Amino acid sequence: MSDIEKKPIKITETVLRDSHQSLIATRMPTEFMLPILETMDQVGYHSLECWGGATFDASLRFLKEDPWERLRKIRDGVKNTKLQMLFRGQNILGYRHYADDVVTEFVEKSIANGIDIIRIFDCFNDLRNLQCAVNAANAVKKREGRGEAQIALSYTLGDAYTLEYWMKMAKDIEEMGADSICIKDMAGLLVPYKAEELIKAMKSATKLPIQLHTHYTSGVASMTYLKAVEAGVDVIDCAISPFALGTSQPATEVMVETFKGTPYDTGFDQNLLAKIADHFRPYREECLKSGLLNPKVLGVDIKTLMYQVPGGMLSNMVSQLKEQNAEDKYYDVLQEIPRVRKDLGEPPLVTPSSQIVGTQAVFNVLMGERYKMATKETKAVLHGEYGQTVKPFNKEVQDKVLSAEEKETIITCRPADKLPNELKKIEEEMKEWKQQDEDVLSYALFPQVAIDFFKYRQAQQEKVDMTQADTKNGAYPV
Ligand code: CO
Repeated sequence: MSDIEKKPIKITETVLRDSHQSLIATRMPTEFMLPILETMDQVGYHSLECWGGATFDASLRFLKEDPWERLRKIRDGVKNTKLQMLFRGQNILGYRHYADDVVTEFVEKSIANGIDIIRIFDCFNDLRNLQCAVNAANAVKKREGRGEAQIALSYTLGDAYTLEYWMKMAKDIEEMGADSICIKDMAGLLVPYKAEELIKAMKSATKLPIQLHTHYTSGVASMTYLKAVEAGVDVIDCAISPFALGTSQPATEVMVETFKGTPYDTGFDQNLLAKIADHFRPYREECLKSGLLNPKVLGVDIKTLMYQVPGGMLSNMVSQLKEQNAEDKYYDVLQEIPRVRKDLGEPPLVTPSSQIVGTQAVFNVLMGERYKMATKETKAVLHGEYGQTVKPFNKEVQDKVLSAEEKETIITCRPADKLPNELKKIEEEMKEWKQQDEDVLSYALFPQVAIDFFKYRQAQQEKVDMTQADTKNGAYPV
């Protein structure tokens, strides 16, 4: 390999976001993260993924923490390394489409509170749903010199997803004004030689840096990274070993060692990585003991390759079937999932399309007749409210599921074009609880959960120390 010029592979560390979201239901508390940040900041990571996805919801709902405060505390401890978040396009971090003013405000506040790189994706890969967030990030960058928009393509398999499809997407993303591209393989479907093909093709189509994100679920992830790196990928997502593998990412230390002495050498200090691993290992043991970390998610789940269904979707499905005393229908539902996916235009299966397809498949099997009952979300998809899929919707299903009025009003434009600005109205609804501008956004995403949290926060403040919160002036303890 001596004829290859040096190209150190860059690494994004996911232990503060995806890795604990994937292994322990996003339950890692901020207080546990803080003491190790200074060490993590010395490694030379490309970025630390630390926010977005389920972290926001889980912080408010289960940990009774303000997610914005978590972000500010992490920013305080990380002076040199970029902080990265995951952002569901027009859904932000929630499950519905938001108006552009909410999306823009969320991007602004995320960067203002410490985020550098916003990884934006859409469950249909409908780029129109990403433009508003990209524009917002670019506006901040222009103004303040900080903030980077990365567009993530949800990787999936199917007739429509040819190399030409991915190459065209790469070109379109470059034209949209994004700073980089991520291939987001949430289910671990990208196998090593396909990764090589894909990266080479996309690299030939765009000059933008390409980052690869995968999960170890199907057991191939570190081989996939090896081939992708050889094919020219720029950044890979890894997790420090105690929170790696299984449904999480390949282990950081292993990838660092793999490329040592090659043109891709990261130059990372294994002693520093060992220190970081030492911090997280006892917590892993604790999670195993308490049951929060289920050994089941640590093995190889080959079913994800066979059925192309993300691990999280399978476990949702099992619990839905259990509730209905219908666990014997597991394989029927597994076979129904690809059929429903086809009816809905063959989208990638990722939040929220994974839940929509999975739940509808369960309904179809349990009701004994397909689409006898369609969920609100299935209807919304077929009505065009989530945007455009790569293939058309199944006309017959659309006909069966939509009302006459809905059939007349099918949306073909960018769905958010139909949504009037809503930030003011949202603020009006929650103003009695507002202590910081960011609270409006927390409420916009998770209204009930946010109110419960605001009540909890107020009780704590009144009990602990009233001087810490000056609600009149909107000041808050940081
Ligand atoms: Co992921």
